[in-house]
Order: sequence, then C-alpha cells, then structure tokens
Amino acid sequence: MRTQVAIIGAGPAGLLLGQLLHVAGIDTIILERRSGDYVLSRIRAGVLEQGTVALLEQAGVAARLHAEGLRHDGFNLAYDGARHRIDLAGLTGGRHVTIYGQTEMTRDLMQARAACGAPSLYEAAEVHLADFDSAHPRVTCLFEGQRIEIACDFIAGCDGSHGVSHASLPAAALSLHERHYPFGWLGVMADVAPVSDELVYASHERGFALCSMRSAHRSRYYLQCPLGTEIADWPDARFWDELRQRLDPQTAAALVDAPSIEKSIAPLRSFVAEPMRFGSLFLAGDAAHIVPPTGAKGLNLAASDVHYLAEGLIGHYREGRASGLEAYSQRALARVWKAERFSWWMTSLLHQFPDSSPFDRKIQAAERAYLAGSRAAMAALAENYVGLPF
Ligand code: APR
Ligand code: PHB
Repeated sequence: MRTQVAIIGAGPAGLLLGQLLHVAGIDTIILERRSGDYVLSRIRAGVLEQGTVALLEQAGVAARLHAEGLRHDGFNLAYDGARHRIDLAGLTGGRHVTIYGQTEMTRDLMQARAACGAPSLYEAAEVHLADFDSAHPRVTCLFEGQRIEIACDFIAGCDGSHGVSHASLPAAALSLHERHYPFGWLGVMADVAPVSDELVYASHERGFALCSMRSAHRSRYYLQCPLGTEIADWPDARFWDELRQRLDPQTAAALVDAPSIEKSIAPLRSFVAEPMRFGSLFLAGDAAHIVPPTGAKGLNLAASDVHYLAEGLIGHYREGRASGLEAYSQRALARVWKAERFSWWMTSLLHQFPDSSPFDRKIQAAERAYLAGSRAAMAALAENYVGLPF
C-alpha cells in the first residue's frame, strides 16, 4: 500500500489531522490498534478553546458541536467559603470556551472520515515504524491476519502517551521532562443536571474538587484523591458527601446526588518529549506531551499541534515549501510549554500537597487570595484558560 501521510492513532489528534489533510486533498491512512467502539468508550474532558472549534470547522465536522455544545463565558473558583467568578469574556475581550465531550468530537471525526472513504485500519496490531530517518519511511502492521506494509512520505505519530512512535526513537534522540503529582482524580459521571451553569473548581483543606458537565442533563465531578486510592472504597454516597464538604455553601446546597454511571481514577502528571520531529516522523498530541487535566489543555494542545503539522504538510505538498515542517517542532513546543506551565500553575494553586510545609500552604493561600482580588491576575488566568493564540 502507499499513501502520502501515514497516521498512527485514531484519537482526536490522528482523526483531526486526517480530516484537515483530506480537506486539503492529501491522502492518509490511519492505523489504530483498538476498535472504533473502544476509542469511543473513553471518558475524557471536553473544554474546547475557540482555536480548536475553528479547526473542527475547517475540517467540516463542527455542525453538531454548534448545535449541542455549550458556550461558557466564565467559570468559578471556590475557596475560603466563597465563589469567585472568572469572567472569561469580560477579561479577554469576548473570548469563551465550548463544552463538548471529547467522545462526541471523536465520533464526529470518525463519521466524517468514514463518509469520505479515507482508509482507517482499526485493530491494527504490531505497528512498526521504519526508515523515518529517510525520505522513504514505511509503516508495517498486522491487519486482519495479514502483514501489511505502507510506503509513505511522512508518518504522524498521534498514538498517545503509550504509543509506538516515541518508543521507536533512540533514547539519546529524546529529551524527556516529567513531573508526577502526589495525588490523582477520582471522577464520577451522573445523569443529573449540573450543579451550576458554569464549571466550579474548588480548593479545600480536604482536597481539590471540580464540578463539570457533558450537557444540561449529564454532570461530571472529580475529587482529588491520594495515590493508591481504590474505587471500591468510594461508593456513591461517600463520593457525594465528600464533594459537598469541599464545595462552597452555595454550590454544596445546590448539589443533587444521582447514581454514578461511570467512576474512574486518573493519575496526574506533566510530561514533554523534545523534539517533536525526527526526519519524516512527526509527533503530535499525547504522543509528545501530557498535562494534568486541571487546565483542560490536553485536547486543545493536540489540536494546536495538528494545526501546525497540517499547515506544514499542506505547504509541502501544495507549494513545495519545507519551512512549515522545519519549524513544526519549535512552533508546537513553544505553545506546549506555555500550556504545561499554566496546567502546572493551576494544579499547584488548587490542590493539597501532602508534603507541603506550613510556609508552602501560606504561599498557596496568598496566591489564591491575590487572584480573587486582582483583575490583572484573573486576566492572566483567563487568557490562558481560553487558549493562547496559535
Ligand atoms: N498502534 C496504533 N494505535 C495506537 C498505538 C499503536 N502502537 N498505541 C496507541 N494507539 C492509539 C490509541 O489506541 C489511541 O486511540 O493512539 C490513539 C491515541 O489517542 P489519545 O491517547 O486520545 O491521544 P491524542 O489523540 O493525542 O489526544 C489527546 O486525548 O487522552 C486524551 O487527555 C488527552 O484530551 C487529550 C487527548
Ligand atoms: C471534564 O469535564 O472532564 C473537565 C473539565 C475541565 C477540566 C478537567 C476536566 O479542567
């Protein structure tokens, strides 16, 4: 088989890249090790920056997003018994975010790819990347019992944090930067109206809590939990009681319990692999970086990587211009590190750190108090939350 760009991974990064290249008349093949149903079964955040929405519009997959997505012009911080609204629109000249589950975005992209007939190999096993240090890279895999070889011009490694792409690189070629946080997030999904029209990020001495949503009828809640927490130790009643204790009185009073339809625990870490290009292989999304979910940047960083990569590939094929691809890693990493900083800062601001000193906790409290009283500090938070320019 032959294609122009072989894409490894059918998550948001791989699917969005595939659709943007298809719209530009560039041929791709997507290789995904899981089934489509499995990919759609993943529960992930869905706070979309306007830049991400614009890319989905460019890819021709934004109709349902515009029909069902929820525009949010602000969100709330809750601490010291009070709620502090961050007026995103007022602080950023009208910018906002859109709430639309990542699962729905992935579904829209999968359906668009199926409709345009671009090839996707789901349940492709033993994917192997070869000769990406040349102008004639190859990808091989086992698909439906057959060994397949795909000749291509470029490989896009969109295979997430446990993928084969960055694992294919010699350790000496990569510079890894990582921070593990000493806690995780226990998440619950429930078919009940959200406690508030806008998200509430709560910081309490018992721990962090987040009140989010997927729609006007489906809520998503998180509690900071110690490493090693077992889901079995958190029946619904305990979850709702603990959540109430961490919220401000207004939000706690409005909280409505409901049976959980999904319950899971996720670790928090920051990670960046540099550079994001190796010859004909380009890394994008979680394959190159991970952020703690506090700032809702994971999906949006995957989108901005894809924006830069698609721009470089289109420039190569349409105008014979190499500059976009040559600048890809440096351009993507410049934005990645700013989002890594913001995600680390918001996580540090709102969570309880088991090994923090009394001085650390005083500084953290002062940071929260300063933020609550400073329009300049809120504006800095707001411009990062709505998304820095591409
Ligand atoms: N071969 C083929 N596919 C693979 C391989 C492999 N060896 N390894 C992983 N994959 C697939 C995974 O099954 C997954 O579907 O690559 C895809 C990677 O998708 P994501 O992990 O969702 O990563 P990305 O597309 O970069 O999207 C980042 O997803 O995980 C969230 O928080 C993250 O919101 C962010 C977004
Ligand atoms: C979510 O709805 O899952 C969500 C929202 C905002 C975040 C993280 C997760 O910062």
